[in-house]
Amino acid sequence: MTSLADQSVEQLGGPRSILTRQMRDHVKLERMLERLPTTSGEAREELLNRICRLVFTHAFAEEAVLWPALRRHLPDGEELTARVEREHQEITELVAALEQTAPDDPSGPQLVERIVAVLRQDVRDEEDLLLPRLQDAVDARTLRRLGVSWELVRRTAPTRTHPIVSRRPPGQTLSALPLSVTDRLRDGLDHAARRVPHRFRPALVSASQGLGAMAEQIERLPPLRRGERPATHLPPEQTR
Ligand SMILES: [Fe+2]
Ligand SMILES: [Fe+2]
Repeated sequence: MTSLADQSVEQLGGPRSILTRQMRDHVKLERMLERLPTTSGEAREELLNRICRLVFTHAFAEEAVLWPALRRHLPDGEELTARVEREHQEITELVAALEQTAPDDPSGPQLVERIVAVLRQDVRDEEDLLLPRLQDAVDARTLRRLGVSWELVRRTAPTRTHPIVSRRPPGQTLSALPLSVTDRLRDGLDHAARRVPHRFRPALVSASQGLGAMAEQIERLPPLRRGERPATHLPPEQTR
């Protein structure tokens, strides 16, 4: 079993394979994480936003398409995917905590440090363990088919942190449509708020916050929590 990091695009199944697509995003993420310590002020804020958009859509598509496939193809798929789902849950909760933290709060840098550490751990688990195991179990055609499905889901996935919804179908998949709509509308409003003259900003910011409150209500709907393993929401030290 060879880590994906040590394989060529051809060995990964070609440019459309799920393995190549995963590697591409992981490399992009690492480049952004490396820039974090030397970035400050508004540029840091913007960089953190870009990291979150990449991470949440990427992870959502993993939970919807990739981990169910691993559970189907590998006898220990349940155990393997439970581990990365807990990592995704921890990242989601840490980002939610960071969003509630004032910019000058001393706990902010610690939260960012932990987010970066768990993100890197998640990438290592996927590249060194889960995805090579999938590669051994299926043919290149299946890897390409999974790649196309994963990409389609990723392009329409929610872009923000949603700590309450299930990390597994069916609740996870049900959450896609309503939360993608609220998240992507908010992204548009927030983007506009940074560019319009000052006097228009409060209206855009409050519309975005209103959508955020709506998303929180949607997250609490019982069908969106279906399929979850209770252990996914336990603190990591209680699940080791
Ligand atoms: Fe990944
Ligand atoms: Fe992941």
